[in-house]
Amino acid sequence: MVDPASFRVDYAINPHMTDAAGNLHRVDPVRAARQWDELRKTYEGLGYPVLVLPADPGLPDQVFVANPVLAGPHSVTGRLQFLPSRMRHKERAREPALCGEFLIGLGAEALRSTPQDVPLEGHGDFLWFPGRRLLLAGYGFRSDARALPEVAERFQARVLGFELRHPALYHLDTALVPLDPQTALFAPEAFSPEGLQLLTAVFPRLLAVPGEEATRFFAANAHCPDGRHVVIEGEAAATRGLLAKQGFYPIGLETSEFRRSGGSVFCMKLPLWPT
Ligand code: ARG
Repeated sequence: MVDPASFRVDYAINPHMTDAAGNLHRVDPVRAARQWDELRKTYEGLGYPVLVLPADPGLPDQVFVANPVLAGPHSVTGRLQFLPSRMRHKERAREPALCGEFLIGLGAEALRSTPQDVPLEGHGDFLWFPGRRLLLAGYGFRSDARALPEVAERFQARVLGFELRHPALYHLDTALVPLDPQTALFAPEAFSPEGLQLLTAVFPRLLAVPGEEATRFFAANAHCPDGRHVVIEGEAAATRGLLAKQGFYPIGLETSEFRRSGGSVFCMKLPLWPT
């Protein structure tokens, strides 16, 4: 995770960052720090130690560490591999190098990111299918469809593409949560008819986020690290109910300050264990 000390809303690069009058949201730093800390403690409580990358004062979105690199799965050598992102907006352009340096310091190996003008936003748009060398990839608003073959080649993985349709669900991680090899939670409004068909082919059990909980509460920006527990924005009550009914263990947390910037649970961590 990245220290939230520099987290602010200083510019608007997604529809969540402004209020109805078009003004940038204000963040309460004390509340943000408390919410971030609860997330960190939740992961630690589930048995995942958390490493913290220090905040750069000039990078207000750096706390969303799911975006600057695409990580894993571990190579045959057991070394973590990552592909640095190419952020669509210049405001976030410095994040990949900082995150990459930190990972190299841990012994990870950087894969070559072809220096071309094709945006690619890490785990914002690329989700590992649980336990397989298969990536589900979103494109349209942030990552460019032309990045998909490059990612497939670098990770020697299959990549299935989904065109994103809803501006409020601008990253795939705001619209889809792989829960286990059979099950995914998804926001139907984010996908094209072809995308919905592909999802049905990939996951035998698909759980649609009820009502408007995906766009209002980031219900589909949840994270299931172990096939059982689902860390999710607490306000998404109907989604929590649905998950519980299907046998999962939802853990509701407050992420309201981060939602003002267009992110919630999933965006705020980068998993470094084999997937
Ligand atoms: N303000 C950030 C941006 O627009 C939020 C990123 C949220 N991250 C995510 N993985 N969806 O880039």
